[in-house]
Amino acid sequence: MSRNAAVGAALAEAPIELDLELAPVAPFRAEIPSEEFRTLRTRLEQLQATRPIQTVLVASPSRGDGKSFTAVNLALAEAQLDDDPTLLCDFDLRTPSLHSVFRIDRSPGISDYLLGKADLPETMRRIGNSNLFVMPAGQAVINPLELLHLKEVRRLMDRLRKGFRRILLDSPPLLAASDANLLAGLADGALLVTRMGFTTPDSMSRAIGSLGQDCILGILANGTSPVPSGRL
Ligand SMILES: Nc1ncnc2c1ncn2[C@@H]1O[C@H](COP(=O)(O)OP(=O)(O)OP(=O)(O)O)[C@@H](O)[C@H]1O
Ligand SMILES: [Mg+2]
Repeated sequence: MSRNAAVGAALAEAPIELDLELAPVAPFRAEIPSEEFRTLRTRLEQLQATRPIQTVLVASPSRGDGKSFTAVNLALAEAQLDDDPTLLCDFDLRTPSLHSVFRIDRSPGISDYLLGKADLPETMRRIGNSNLFVMPAGQAVINPLELLHLKEVRRLMDRLRKGFRRILLDSPPLLAASDANLLAGLADGALLVTRMGFTTPDSMSRAIGSLGQDCILGILANGTSPVPSGRL
């Protein structure tokens, strides 16, 4: 085994040392997620009996469909209903938003870790006193797709799997770039968010084709009511 491969193997095996008391705490007051998101979380739990769903990509065809909204609320529901820590990662390295939602610094985050500029624990922010940890996108990079092709991304996911029961990945639109496609290959499955009145049949079928039917855990119709209704 080459030296690099040995270092890679060691990284993959090292557990994340998450000190729940010492982890940086974001001053976000977590709202209680709506019943729909708690139901969605319960559906995921039920689905888990039939297939592993530790890492879930939240994807949609276009901008503004509600990916981040869904990812945030589902993560809050997970953290509220589960004793184990939940991680929400902002893999929309193009137009990240989770740092604004939770009012945390964007960096250090995912890109900084992948570029070797930050250690894993310092990229995570604990939200309030909750079980929710957020990994912001990190500093802006010129070519996010190139970064997502690095072997370090898979190693990162392997490390995260050891520390969290559920990992949610926010992502850029499927039809705008290949980032979400690539991320789907690293996740156990994807939730496909659609926006009622905006998502066309054509963009819907292109999004499904791009993810692949086997990858899709469920399709969410956002905008039917004040909050999305989940269908798994
Ligand atoms: N069901 C909803 N109820 C209320 N507001 C919503 C709902 N869904 C989305 N929004 C709001 O609509 C806006 C766009 O949603 P969001 O940012 O989640 O979309 P997105 O798919 O992540 O977009 P992008 O691809 O640009 O990141 C946000 O201000 C969000 O808070
Ligand atoms: Mg978003």
